[in-house]
Order: sequence, then C-alpha cells, then structure tokens
Amino acid sequence: MNALPATLPGPDYHDPAVYALDREAIFFRSWICVGRTEDVREAGQWITADVAGESILVTRDQEDSLRAFYNVCRHRGSRLCDGDSGQVKSAFRCPYHAWTYTLDGKLRGTPHVGREEVSREDHGLWTVAVDEWQGFVFVNLRRDDPPALRDALAESEGVLDLERFDLSGLRRGFRSVHEVQANWKIIVANYNECLHCPTVHPELVDIVPAFRSGVVFEDGRSDGGVSLAEGRRSVAGDHESRHLLLPGMTEEEASSYFGSLLFPAMFLDISGCEAIATLVQPTGPTSCRLITDYLFHPDSVARADFDPSAVVEFNERVAEQDNAVCERAQKGVMSRAFTHGVYPEKDAEVYKFDLHYKSLRDAYRSRSQEAAE
Ligand code: FES
Ligand code: FE
Repeated sequence: MNALPATLPGPDYHDPAVYALDREAIFFRSWICVGRTEDVREAGQWITADVAGESILVTRDQEDSLRAFYNVCRHRGSRLCDGDSGQVKSAFRCPYHAWTYTLDGKLRGTPHVGREEVSREDHGLWTVAVDEWQGFVFVNLRRDDPPALRDALAESEGVLDLERFDLSGLRRGFRSVHEVQANWKIIVANYNECLHCPTVHPELVDIVPAFRSGVVFEDGRSDGGVSLAEGRRSVAGDHESRHLLLPGMTEEEASSYFGSLLFPAMFLDISGCEAIATLVQPTGPTSCRLITDYLFHPDSVARADFDPSAVVEFNERVAEQDNAVCERAQKGVMSRAFTHGVYPEKDAEVYKFDLHYKSLRDAYRSRSQEAAE
C-alpha cells in the first residue's frame, strides 16, 4: 500500500507566524467577497467588512460606481465608520477631528485647519480594488494591479458554471453570523470533503442521498450537480419548497444541489430555490467568523408571507454540526503529537486545496525574499 498524502503540519493551523503569512500571501492578494450589492444600491449606502483583520469600507459614489477604501482616516488613523452598514448623504465624516471625505474618497473638509495646509489631492482615503460578480461584492487588497475578478474566479473549479443560475438579482432572506474557534483552513477543508457527511449530518444525507457515500460529486465535477431526494427542490426541513425557483434554474436542475468553493474562503451552495453564500473571515490564527447569506428569488422575498425559516433552520443545523467538528479538529491539530494527518482518496479535494495554498504561500515567500535581497 502506498503512503497516503500528508495534511499540512499541525502548526500551519495555529502558529501566529503562519497566520501572518496567510494574511499577506492569501487574503491580501486574492479577491475576497465582502457582501451583496443589494446593500450598496444607492449613493452613500455603505458596508464594512473584515478582510483578515483589515476593516474595509465599501460604498457607491454619485456616479453609481462601487468604491472601496481602508476604513482609516488619513489624519491620524481613526476608524472612520463603525458597525456593519449605514448611509451617508454625500460624505464620510471622521468622528475624531471631523475631517470629511467624498463618496469617491477625496478629502473634502478639514475643520479648524487651513485648506492651504493639507493638500486635498494627497490625503484621500486609501483605495482598494472593488468589483462585483453575480450580485456579490469583492475587494482585492493587492498593492499592484490585481487580475480581473472573473479571471480569478475562473481558477476555482466550477464557479463560472454557476453563472447560469443568474444570482445577481437574488435577495437576502436571512443572514447568520457564527464565531468559530478554528483556523480558516480547517473550515475550508471541512467544506471540501463529504467524508464526514454520513457521520456528522444524518439529516442532510436524507436530503442529498449521494452524500451517504462520503463524496460530494460522484464524477468529481460540480457542473452536473448532485440529485436531491425524490420530489425535492430545496435543501430544507420542509419537503415542498414554498419559494420560486432561482431565475436561471431549469426544471431538471431544480432537483439538484450545486456547490463550489470560491478560493480562498467562500462557499456557494445552490439548490432549486435558494443560494446560500458563506464568507469565512479569519479573525485570528485559531478563529473565524462565518457570515452566511440565504438568498432567494426576489419575488419570493417580496411576498408578504415570505418565510425562509424551513431553509434557514435546516442549514443552520448543518452549519452547527460542521462548526462543532471544526472546533474539535482544531483542538487536536494543536497537539504536539500532530505532526500531520493523512488524506485518503475521498479527501482528494482537500489535498488539492492544500497544494494550491502552499504554492501561493511559497511564491509569496520567495518574492518577499527576493525583494529583501
Ligand atoms: Fe480623523 Fe483626525 S483622525 S480627523
Ligand atoms: Fe459538513
């Protein structure tokens, strides 16, 4: 019998130095989803998002363009906006000394300090690249020119296939937030395999019978989807879905589940009537925040009797099952005994992720070494 491929070594899941590298090499160089365009529809509407510890402010300017900035005042560094979302009329005002910035990030006012003293041109907010795909807002913190968003997404297998469901007009019916005591790679690894499904998700395997075998996609590809149990069009507690099919969904596709990881750390799970998007936001070497948006056909959400509870409750239970095993794994990988684990064949996607992750990390490390020499 051949030796099995090894997982990452234990410290990769908890060492602060590895986490610092993950922030620089992965999270500050990739396109990271920070929310939905429905939250920044009008000029001055804003959201904030945490990108591996960096607070990013996203808004829409007067010209209807999305804009993203570090949530940091150029005067003496004060945090500019508090909370997750809000709306300003035409400017952001720093709570510290009341400097103001226009919606496109230009410095506008510096009360009690002469205009000639502080150059307006040189002290605009620090900008961040921003773009949208299918109604999702993405930012990229790279200092050099980032690749086009869609080109980057094309590198995550099966993601562009999901465009056929036309997710851009979907509306959020519910959002959940979970703080999980596990490294982000443990959460992603768990998403990338279904070997745990028969043990951890007894209710889920009843709805997606293929998961009983411990693989996500039997042919190894996501574009065909996996069949739901007879008569189902939703991964939910009730058998009959009360929501409309997603706009681009054919009758045949409606009875399937489709899912993809958007590298590095976003999950998109789609079945007939709902799309569930989960953002994994690292909050430290051994912790994450998981933000999950439950998205539905806009006409379903607009109905007076709209009720997402059957979908939400079922999937929240699945999420809690996942989060519990991730926290359990985190405890074990911090043992000094855990030099590494092993990947049997059904963990192949997890192994693939590790290889890609390591190649980006190594490339970043050698670039920074070169730059230092
Ligand atoms: Fe923002 Fe002074 S730190 S105005
Ligand atoms: Fe799971």
